[in-house]
Amino acid sequence: MSLDSRFKDEALRQLMVEVSACKKCGLWRSRRNPVLGDGDPSSPIVFIGEAPGYWEDVRGKPFVGAAGRLLDEILGKAMMPRNSVYITNVVKCRPPENRDPLPEEIEACSPYLDRQLDLIRPRVIVTLGRHSTAYIFSRASIPFDGISRVQGKVYEVSFWGERTYVVASYHPAAALYNVRLRGEIENTIKLAGVILGQVLSKS
Ligand code: URA
Ligand code: SF4
Repeated sequence: MSLDSRFKDEALRQLMVEVSACKKCGLWRSRRNPVLGDGDPSSPIVFIGEAPGYWEDVRGKPFVGAAGRLLDEILGKAMMPRNSVYITNVVKCRPPENRDPLPEEIEACSPYLDRQLDLIRPRVIVTLGRHSTAYIFSRASIPFDGISRVQGKVYEVSFWGERTYVVASYHPAAALYNVRLRGEIENTIKLAGVILGQVLSKS
């Protein structure tokens, strides 16, 4: 393991210690396990969902329920197996009854996501759903006018002084009962894989 990946692993372990003790918003009261992230922190591509659901809260891992199984399948089709990418969420504790996270919860929790991204410095960021898309767009000063207008598009931004690509997607949970959305998500994630291939071939 390189020094760089040992440093990242250690920093992420430290972040997990902080998140486990975090009480910055009310969600700590009802969570079983906080969910920091999963996958390869050395990956050049990061997928960002919304918040843990029931199974994520039980297992302490992102995207391990029904939406997660669909995401795994779509990642496989795009030739990016789950363990080759890094997956996380905007909010680290499960909102009760899987309700949407509140703006103040996103505000309280997003510094953890920022620190993960600062460590990993991905070249491609895939936002899954409107909450993570709105958050990453706000960080990049891109106007957000609804997920259906921006999904499937690629945005070139400057993060960490480097060209970084943001690819916006519908959330996989939205595709569980909607075949059309499923096709859209598959195409978007395949596109993200193509962009990643281009970025890596230039560097
Ligand atoms: N939905 C999300 O947004 N994140 C998860 O981790 C699981 C479901
Ligand atoms: Fe802390 Fe985030 Fe959990 Fe709120 S959701 S308690 S900010 S870790």
